[in-house]
Amino acid sequence: MFILQLQLKLETMSKTYNWAILGCGKIAQKFANDLKVLPNAKLYAAASRSLVKAEAFAFEFGFEKAYGSYEEMANDPAVDVVYIASPHSHHCENTLLCLNHKKAVLCEKAFAINSKEVAIMIEASRRNNTFLMEAFWTRFLPSFLKVLDIIRSGELGALKMVRADFAFNAEYIPEDRNYNIALGGGSLLDIGIYPIFMSLMAFGKPTEIKTMAKFSPTGSEESIMMSFGYPGGEIASLFSSFGFYSSTQAEFSFENGFVRMNKHFHIPTSLVYWKNGEEEKPIVFETDPGFGYEHEAAHVMECLDAGKTESDMIPFSLSVDLMEILDRVRKDAGIVYPEHD
Ligand SMILES: NC(=O)c1ccc[n+]([C@@H]2O[C@H](COP(=O)([O-])OP(=O)(O)OC[C@H]3O[C@@H](n4cnc5c(N)ncnc54)[C@H](OP(=O)(O)O)[C@@H]3O)[C@@H](O)[C@H]2O)c1
Repeated sequence: MFILQLQLKLETMSKTYNWAILGCGKIAQKFANDLKVLPNAKLYAAASRSLVKAEAFAFEFGFEKAYGSYEEMANDPAVDVVYIASPHSHHCENTLLCLNHKKAVLCEKAFAINSKEVAIMIEASRRNNTFLMEAFWTRFLPSFLKVLDIIRSGELGALKMVRADFAFNAEYIPEDRNYNIALGGGSLLDIGIYPIFMSLMAFGKPTEIKTMAKFSPTGSEESIMMSFGYPGGEIASLFSSFGFYSSTQAEFSFENGFVRMNKHFHIPTSLVYWKNGEEEKPIVFETDPGFGYEHEAAHVMECLDAGKTESDMIPFSLSVDLMEILDRVRKDAGIVYPEHD
């Protein structure tokens, strides 16, 4: 149903957009793959700090142009929209480069390192009257939209608790962005942000935050447990880690039942729905034509078609609230990025 809706939306879109990718790393590959399923997205330019890398990436995914610097790409008048896929430590700088060249921007999560940087990015979007959105792709996934529907409908009573985790065993490579503090290393900004996003969408901002963090030999945060409390007595129990695997599920507990997003909750094909007095039942979704990133990219083009500079699905206020929570979690846990904070 959702995929049908996506197709119908795409058919009504007018313009073809020239997409550029900034930073040809791992997520850029998946995103480029998903752009291909969108008829109004043209894979136009790949930009890397290395021309050889940009050329290889462009060749592999069928981009028309390859640039050996981000600046050269930003100077190309034919680029309409840039997907920023660099480490979080560089999101602010890279976003400013693109916005100041009047390129629409879809910037990966975490949107930046801290709230100060997010404010600078939003100011640049407004000053340049140019579109900017955080690439929080799970916001658009059919399974997550269904969970939000169930919460808002009240059919299971009031939502009381969210329990969510995201952990995997990331090889310890000190210079890798997962562990390198200079690149925003740590599980929190990379994957802990998903459970936090779930709790934010469910309850809004917490009034109480308690954490416990464990650190890697580089000093980066490796594992973090978070307990959030809300004014109405609701609670959230969340964790993330690069040190071990977890089932990566999200469970929403209501007065009269629960909904569970199965492993992996950021890409589930089914939900478990249970109402007190009834049998558990699965809610199954169609297989996605891509990895799931095409929904956010389609939404960006829809916004651009409508002349918007801000998304109503991921408005600036949502990114601001999310980063504010991340800042508070970091403060409680003692996680510091000396080059940014
Ligand atoms: N939405 C999702 O599902 C998802 C999944 C994974 C990651 N992400 C997010 O996407 C971003 C990138 O993650 P990734 O896993 O793709 O990382 P990655 O494989 O390390 O790629 C990052 C790319 O950024 C560029 N870069 C620019 N400055 C850099 C620097 N000083 N050091 C290293 N690389 C630099 C590099 O591209 P060039 O060498 O080509 O310039 C590099 O290939 C992160 O913010 C992450 O949180 C999102």
